[in-house]
Amino acid sequence: MEIENNESEFEMGQEYFCPECNRNHTKGKIYKDHLKFFLKNDSDKGDGEKKEEGSEGENIQLEVPDIDDLDYDEEAELLEAFNEIEEENIDLEDGILQIKEKDECIQAVKSLPGVGDATLSKLIKAGFDSLEAIAYTPPKIIINESGIGEKTTAKLIKASMEKLKIGFKSAEDIWEKRKNIARITTGSTELDELLGGGAETGSLIEFFGEFRTGKTQIMHQLCVNVQLPRELGGLDGNALYIDTEGTFRPERIIQMAEALDLDTKKVLKNIIFGRAYNSDHQVILIKEAANLIKEKNIKLIIVDSLIGHFRSEYIGRGTLANRQQLINQHLHDLLRLCDIHTDLAVLVTNQVQAKPDVFYGNPLQAAGGNVVAHGSTIRVYLRKGKGVQRVAKIIDAPNLPEGEAIFSITEDGIREG
Ligand code: GTP
Ligand code: MG
Repeated sequence: MEIENNESEFEMGQEYFCPECNRNHTKGKIYKDHLKFFLKNDSDKGDGEKKEEGSEGENIQLEVPDIDDLDYDEEAELLEAFNEIEEENIDLEDGILQIKEKDECIQAVKSLPGVGDATLSKLIKAGFDSLEAIAYTPPKIIINESGIGEKTTAKLIKASMEKLKIGFKSAEDIWEKRKNIARITTGSTELDELLGGGAETGSLIEFFGEFRTGKTQIMHQLCVNVQLPRELGGLDGNALYIDTEGTFRPERIIQMAEALDLDTKKVLKNIIFGRAYNSDHQVILIKEAANLIKEKNIKLIIVDSLIGHFRSEYIGRGTLANRQQLINQHLHDLLRLCDIHTDLAVLVTNQVQAKPDVFYGNPLQAAGGNVVAHGSTIRVYLRKGKGVQRVAKIIDAPNLPEGEAIFSITEDGIREG
C-alpha cells in the first residue's frame, strides 16, 4: 500500500513513498532498498530484455547512484546492501554450491575432466570439495555418499591423484610437508615438549588412560588454546568438539579462557559442539564435520571419547568383528581429515579400564584393540600422579622419543606439573 508523503524531511526508520521506484522505503535503508529492488528487477528481466519504464508497477529500471557522489555513510550502506544481496542470492539457489564456487579447491575439482555442474554439485554436497578429499577417499565411499557412478568415480580419483602428484615422493617432499606442521600448546611446557612442541596438525593424536586422568580436561584446554594467535601457541582457528559422553562443560571453557585473559563469549562461540548419542550418530557427525572445516576455520577436531559408544553397543564375541570394522572405518574418516587438511589437528580420547601394565605389549585390547593402535599416529598414555598431577607417556609415535611428562590440572586449566 502506498504511503502518503507529507514532508520532504523524514525521520530515520520511518517509511515513505519513493517516487523513483514507485514503492515504499524506510528512511536510512534507502540505498539498500533501492539496490535490492534494482537488482531483482534487473535479473527478472533476463537476457537484456528491457521492460518499459513504469509499465508494470514495480518493474521500473532504476539508476544506481554513482559511488563517488555518495558521502561516507551512504557508501558504507551501499556496500552492506551489496553484501546482503549477495548473501540472499546464495540462499535462493543451491546454497552450498554458490558459496563454495568461489573456493580455489572447488575450482580445482571443477577442472577435473568430466566434471560438469551436476557432478560438481553431487561431489560438494557429499563433502568431496577438494582434490585431496577425492584422492584420499576409497571409491566405495565416494560412490555411496555422492551417488556418482563407479566408472566416473574411478576416473575422478585417478585424475585427482595425478594432479596432486600422489604416488612415490622423495623424502624431500615429505620433509617440505612436515615443515608446515603447526602445533597447539597444551598449557604445560613439559607436555608440549613430550609431544614435540604441542599437539601437531596433520596427525591423529590419541590420549588414553583411566577415568579422571585428565583426557577431557586436555581436550577442553586445546579448544581454548587453538584460538590463540600462532605466536602464543595457537593456530588462530576454531574447534569442533564431538562429545560422546556428555562431559563437555562450557563453564570449564570460561574458566580456562578467563585465565588467559580471552573474551569468553568469543571463545565459546568459536567452539562448534556436537553431541553424539550413539555410534552411528558419531560417524555421521565426523562426516559432516568435513564440510565445516574450511567454512568455519576449524583447526582442531576432538572426539571425546572415540570408542565408548561402539563398546557399549556391540557387546559379546559375535559382534566383535563388526564393531572393529566400524571403528576402523570411523578412524579412517578421521585419518583422512588429517591427510586432507594439513593445518588441522585431530585428537581423540580413549578410556582404558585396567592397569596399564596389563596392557603393555598389547595396549588397549579392551578399548578398540589393534585397530585403534594402528590408526592413531601418536598415542599418549595418561595416569594419575600425586594430587592434581598427571603423568603422560608416549606409547607409540613415529618421530617422538619415549619419555614422560608431568603436568597439573588446576582451576585455570592444564598447567606445569
Ligand atoms: P573419564 O572421561 O572419566 O575417562 O576421565 P577423563 O580422563 O576425561 O578425566 P577428566 O579430564 O574429566 O579429569 C577429571 C579431573 O580433572 C578431576 O579428577 C579433577 O581433578 C580435574 N578437574 C576437572 N574439572 C576441574 C576444575 O574445574 N578445577 C580443577 N582444579 N580441576 C578440575
Ligand atoms: Mg572424559
